[in-house]
Amino acid sequence: MSLYELFTSKGPSGFGYASTAEQVTEGVSLEGKTILVTGCNSGLGLESLRVLKLRGARVVGTARTVDKARAAGSSVPLACELSDPASVRACVESVRRDGVRLDAILCNAGIMALPKLAQAHGFELQFFTNHIGHFILVTGLLDLLADDGRVVMLSSAAHQMAPKAGIEFDNLSGEKRYGSWRAYGQSKFANLLFAKELARRFVGTKHVANAVHPGVISTNLSRHLHAGISVIVGLVGWVGQKSVPQGAATQLYAAVHPATATTSGHYFADCNVAKNRPDADDPAIAKRLWEVSEEIVARLA
Ligand SMILES: NC(=O)c1ccc[n+]([C@@H]2O[C@H](COP(=O)([O-])OP(=O)(O)OC[C@H]3O[C@@H](n4cnc5c(N)ncnc54)[C@H](OP(=O)(O)O)[C@@H]3O)[C@@H](O)[C@H]2O)c1
Repeated sequence: MSLYELFTSKGPSGFGYASTAEQVTEGVSLEGKTILVTGCNSGLGLESLRVLKLRGARVVGTARTVDKARAAGSSVPLACELSDPASVRACVESVRRDGVRLDAILCNAGIMALPKLAQAHGFELQFFTNHIGHFILVTGLLDLLADDGRVVMLSSAAHQMAPKAGIEFDNLSGEKRYGSWRAYGQSKFANLLFAKELARRFVGTKHVANAVHPGVISTNLSRHLHAGISVIVGLVGWVGQKSVPQGAATQLYAAVHPATATTSGHYFADCNVAKNRPDADDPAIAKRLWEVSEEIVARLA
């Protein structure tokens, strides 16, 4: 496929690489719907918040601080610092007090490729922030999901960079070995496994769970890349980078489009179902990650 075809082609959904968040939600009324978006103050989260509100949704927008969530324009601004379980639990309690059913939970927040090992509560920070923080949030809110509620996890094509084992259960601290992209890849593999395991647990209900790769988009996500890598990413980006409105399209397609209301357990890219690394479909790894995550969370103060 030529670059021109890649950038202009559309998949079975009728959308493709170049579709924007506004285009995939055109004609979709979200009046009366409540959608939670994590990391609503920057990049893809901020664009998702804007477009969801444009379509009439009430957006519970979370950020590291309530001020950031408010400044972003959240209908219900909440603090949710994902590396701090107390903050995530307080966020869960605030949503519960709000008393409204959630039509979708969009787990968008994330950090990428920290050059040196950093930890939270003894665990590698990307695994903890991107996976454990969202695990606490989503499992704490599951009973508030509307009957046809959806969970969307931001994964990444970088899930392919996860270690051979997928998840290194013997090295969740990162202390035995650490590589910035391996660790990011592992955290995004965990996001993908979590969506797939949720989908298995949702069987027999109308709930759905999916994971998405948004594309390659220039956002604050690259803040931890050192200058040399940034130049390479910039050059790659010059050829194949999406804009932020294009980057937010796939997650909104999975979160609110009528065509995906019953699609579950899939990985989306360019607004279409795509292929993930085959071992992400191994239910044994996903089940183990769920159980280990529960044990970790139970031990956290
Ligand atoms: N951009 C890409 O090319 C790309 C590609 C594949 C996947 N993704 C995924 O897309 C998602 C959105 O990324 P983006 O590109 O929009 O990046 P971004 O502009 O850096 O936004 C990330 C968001 O996550 C928040 N966040 C980071 N650490 C947090 C923490 N500990 N607690 C709570 N919130 C935290 C950030 O808050 P602050 O602003 O306060 O730090 C920000 O709101 C991420 O999950 C990323 O892995 C992006």
